Amino acid sequence: MPNLFSDHIPLLRPWLGKAEIEAVERVIRSGWISQGQVVEEFEKKVANYVGAKYAVATNSCTSALHLSLRLMGVSSTDEVICPSFTCMATANAIHHTGAVPVFADIDEKTYNLDPKKIEGKITTNTKAILVVHQIGLPADIDGFKLIVNKYRLALIQDAATALGAIYKKTRLGGDGGPTCFSFHPRKIITTGEGGMIVTDDKRLAIEAKSLGSTGASISDLVRHKAKGKIIQQYFSFGYNYRMTDIQAAIGVVQMRKIDKILSERKIQAKIYDEAFTKNEKIVIPYVPKYATHCFSSYMIRIKNSKVSRDTLIRKMADLGISCRIGIQPLHFEPFYKNQKKYKNVSLQVTEMVANDSIFLPIFPSLTRSQQNHVITSLLKII
Ligand SMILES: Cc1ncc(COP(=O)(O)O)c(C=O)c1O
Repeated sequence: MPNLFSDHIPLLRPWLGKAEIEAVERVIRSGWISQGQVVEEFEKKVANYVGAKYAVATNSCTSALHLSLRLMGVSSTDEVICPSFTCMATANAIHHTGAVPVFADIDEKTYNLDPKKIEGKITTNTKAILVVHQIGLPADIDGFKLIVNKYRLALIQDAATALGAIYKKTRLGGDGGPTCFSFHPRKIITTGEGGMIVTDDKRLAIEAKSLGSTGASISDLVRHKAKGKIIQQYFSFGYNYRMTDIQAAIGVVQMRKIDKILSERKIQAKIYDEAFTKNEKIVIPYVPKYATHCFSSYMIRIKNSKVSRDTLIRKMADLGISCRIGIQPLHFEPFYKNQKKYKNVSLQVTEMVANDSIFLPIFPSLTRSQQNHVITSLLKII
């Protein structure tokens, strides 16, 4: 297999090793490879870690968000407020319910939805707010809770990138939820692909499990263990959003490493912060007092530099360093731009940040000398 990491410093690299390989091997040898006991073990580990009562594993965060939105009552006549400064998957999950995403602007310092910019977007069709904890930094959840309580809306949290991040002493997902995580390779821990809903709502957890598994009233595992005749029933149409035990086995091992992963990311973020903080052309990430950032990505903004952001990325690539432009606003994507109702969407902060932001490599196996190369190269270029 070609080594895709040998000739440059990548933007990210998942931290996988022998323990993950052995765990996968054990599952394969067991003969039970999907939606079994290892998935349950992984769900319990994540629920305990974040402080939630229940967890439901899925095959992606997109499907976890879709199930959460549907189970919070979002349907085709509704609008859901969300950021444009996010992954397409956030808005896709809203579309899967038939509802319409309504984009609101972000805060200039945190890059998360700004609670002050929400009320102007609320209409009689608004059903929910889908808050994204972007790039690993918790959004101001209490600000959104005030709004959803005032207008009787649902609150769903997209913490795809933010497992382990803390909001006012509580890990994201530990406040009742529903909160959704991703286990894509770019996230804090990975299962290849995968996602999870955490919640304190037993009904939501039971229904999410069922809806994510064709809507069946009992799981494959329950049916397998049953002696004699047992028939599943379908009270609703569902999906195949199941996670495999092969993926969950990787997740269980990754959860054993999460503290190490988070602390290494924190160290690397601090090294970047210290290297860039005095440079007036670089804006480093802002972390409000209420939050602990988990640095699933490290994003800076480039200001007043003669070298444009895009030239900088190209020059870094010439030096063997992979960087990426920041998050691209969804309302600029052809899918939205070409729709009449999004034609006049203008989000000043989102557009400004998207224009000058750049992601730098950050991942547990990034060495200090590689990180030094990133820092010195970037400073030299700008
Ligand atoms: C904010 C956000 N939400 C949702 C997703 C979708 O996650 P997944 O790829 O697991 O469906 C991502 C993935 O990058 C994301 O960054």
